Amino acid sequence: MPVRILFATTTGKTEDVATRLAELIGSTANVEDVGDLDATEQLEEPGDLICCVPTWNTGADSMRSGTAWDSHVEAIPDLQLTGRSVAIVGLGDSSSYSDYFCDAMEELYTAFIQAGASLVGKVSPDGYNFSESKSVVDGMFCGLALDEDSEPDLTDDRLVQWVKQLRKEAPGMF
Ligand SMILES: Cc1cc2nc3c(=O)[nH]c(=O)nc-3n(C[C@H](O)[C@H](O)[C@H](O)COP(=O)(O)O)c2cc1C
Repeated sequence: MPVRILFATTTGKTEDVATRLAELIGSTANVEDVGDLDATEQLEEPGDLICCVPTWNTGADSMRSGTAWDSHVEAIPDLQLTGRSVAIVGLGDSSSYSDYFCDAMEELYTAFIQAGASLVGKVSPDGYNFSESKSVVDGMFCGLALDEDSEPDLTDDRLVQWVKQLRKEAPGMF
């Protein structure tokens, strides 16, 4: 079963990252635009999930992404995702939005935990330059944080290392 790489985007960076991630994973990955989903229940269709989410709604407690993810986040906890692996990728700008870096990741992370999913792919914040992020949970980013605005040169290596991590952490994912 191919892993489903879901993205939402405003200026295209998250779609680009989702595509690069799929190229790294190979033929066992499908890329889907969350904006094309008719209903949140489509997230229950077969396949583990990698959810790619930018942060636009600076400082907000809810609807943090400012993209199509926001129209699904409240319904995700009602899904039945027990036994499914879910990983989150966040895009943000650690320089201009240092106090809110990749805040939207944690909103999705918490919603998918409530749906019973197994959340994988946490990353150490060491090596990032930011002040605060709601997506640091118990000392770890709750997914892969990427910064295509201020640190684009680091993205390829971060993606390669993370794919290796997922292969070890969730061997059945892809
Ligand atoms: C008005 C505005 C608000 C933003 N707010 C945040 C933010 O709160 N936190 C953050 O990490 N990045 C923030 N960003 C940076 C975007 O998340 C970043 O550019 C991201 O790569 C955009 O992804 P997209 O092209 O897929 O929409 C903001 C950018 C703009 C222009």
